[in-house]
Amino acid sequence: MKKDEFKFSFDVYDSIEELTEEDAWLLNEAREVTEHAYAPYSHFQVGAVAKLVNGEIVAGSNQENASFPVGLCAERVLLASASSLYPQVAIETMAISYQTGNGDSNHPISPCGICRQSLQEFESRVKHPIRLILGGMEGKIYVIPKAGILLPLAFTSEQLRGEW
Ligand code: THU
Repeated sequence: MKKDEFKFSFDVYDSIEELTEEDAWLLNEAREVTEHAYAPYSHFQVGAVAKLVNGEIVAGSNQENASFPVGLCAERVLLASASSLYPQVAIETMAISYQTGNGDSNHPISPCGICRQSLQEFESRVKHPIRLILGGMEGKIYVIPKAGILLPLAFTSEQLRGEW
């Protein structure tokens, strides 16, 4: 028997002023895109905006439904749009922000489990990491170098094919 472990590091910024101009722009776009969310049930509006390696910008926001499981997260709406508009084009950076019903939005949120699975597979199929910028409307910002590291021991398409 031996012990194994996963470790990852990420950058923590105290505010948007510490980001590069390009990263700050992307996060501000994500903040604005929260307005496009359709979230009448949770009142939790999420916006995601990505810069692709070809320079194009793609957005997504969460889209809910009266039949709750039908709802889609902002991240997966974005991934589906990017794949549909620009097939096989990698994502360089994705910024994710949110606003809540009570106005509190001062801490980064992380993609949910299903979105982590989708982000990981997107990275692996286009063979390029997705850098994540996570931040609320104010407060600290996390920059994660590769979305896939948020899902250690992920189930992958290779495993599905029996390729270990
Ligand atoms: N949601 C996202 O869109 N992205 C996340 O990273 C977390 C959660 C959405 C799903 C649902 O519409 C609402 O936020 C509350 O969970």
